[in-house]
Amino acid sequence: MPLSPESKDVIAATLPAVGAAIGDITPLFYSKMFAAHPELERDLFNRGNQKQGEQQKALAGSIAAFATLQLDPDPARVEAILSRVAHKHASLGIKPDEYWIVHKHLFEAIVEVLGDAVTPEVAKAWDELYWLMANTLISMEADLYRAAGVEAGDVWRTVRVADRVHQSADTVSFVLTSLDGSPLPAFRPGQYLSVGVHLPDGARQIRQYSLSSAPAKGDWRITVKRVLETTAPDGTVLPAGEVSNFLYNNVFEGDELEVTTPFGDLVLTEDDTPILLASAGIGCTPMIGMLDHLAGIGDERPVAVLHADRSVASHAHRRELETLAEKIPSAQLYRWYEDLGNRRPLETVRVGRADISDLPLDPKTQAYLCGPLPFMLSLREALIERNVPAENIHYEVFGPDSWAPAS
Ligand code: HEM
Repeated sequence: MPLSPESKDVIAATLPAVGAAIGDITPLFYSKMFAAHPELERDLFNRGNQKQGEQQKALAGSIAAFATLQLDPDPARVEAILSRVAHKHASLGIKPDEYWIVHKHLFEAIVEVLGDAVTPEVAKAWDELYWLMANTLISMEADLYRAAGVEAGDVWRTVRVADRVHQSADTVSFVLTSLDGSPLPAFRPGQYLSVGVHLPDGARQIRQYSLSSAPAKGDWRITVKRVLETTAPDGTVLPAGEVSNFLYNNVFEGDELEVTTPFGDLVLTEDDTPILLASAGIGCTPMIGMLDHLAGIGDERPVAVLHADRSVASHAHRRELETLAEKIPSAQLYRWYEDLGNRRPLETVRVGRADISDLPLDPKTQAYLCGPLPFMLSLREALIERNVPAENIHYEVFGPDSWAPAS
């Protein structure tokens, strides 16, 4: 259902003012919501993202984009924005009732920031917009829960860590099996699951990890990179990853772990168009899962596999990546290392940052990108320059998505 014509006019007139104030509205919204519901901050939302303001930006960005897309409709773009959010919500077990909590505190924050500008007419239009977005998300999430065969929000299960393997000094993978030995549900290559851990201060924190194994094996494997506190060149201190460090330091073979059913919309297309899988650093995890799947089913479409890393030693799943690429006859693997140590560069193992300018590339390629934002943005630009249409470029951002390029 589109927005009513009256509300559309009001949204068009007030979007610039709301857009300009949204940076003040969202932090206030979260502080009000967490004051009324401390359990949401402690047990559901990512405290690290809250501190850094990333989740605020993602929420604000999605609302502003959705409002803009009501004025200048582009259903495919709406679907792309909301699909990512719905998958993330489903992997957290968000339930329809919780949309009332967000509504109450978001609207209180809007009134507090914009004051008298929020006339009854303005409030009514933004209310309609909120519920249009919320109901679309609620319905998408209901479809995801149905497809996964679970009741709304009932996505958590306890699994056992069957194996723990270092994939580099800072990364470990965990193979997860069911407690009773029955196969875990299949998933789509590229999907992720949420892990919930109880931290020493009593908080339960949740993070998402891509599945780094083929979907139909009956067990699940995730790979976790511990994030240590670092100081950026501008002096900003980037905090340590609470959950990744907890998993790295405390979880071993035989332990139990709380995880969710897999979700995620960055999944391989099921056709025979050429594909390009490009990752940097720990962004390799969904790609390893996709390659494991392609190798397992004997897929014959052309596959270009690109990976960039700091050094050979820091490259998680390095040997596995080579083995999987060798198993797929049509796969071609290219790697870039910022530091190659004393090794000689080869045609397929290069020094520096990923650069696709001299690689063979079919413009029909479906490209999947995962890694830090600057890496994905520069590859996206390079792919577009090589005539790959923007709608063929798919990406997975680890963390809230405040980058939503128009496609
Ligand atoms: C994540 C939007 C309602 C809980 C997100 C993200 C967006 C978003 C854009 C970031 C997705 C990503 O890129 O990773 C919205 C909108 C809502 C809404 C527009 C209402 C119309 C809710 C509700 C809840 C909720 C009702 C439950 C109380 C969360 C949580 C996350 C999230 C826990 C992950 C946060 C994190 O990792 O810090 N949402 N959301 N959201 N949302 Fe919502």
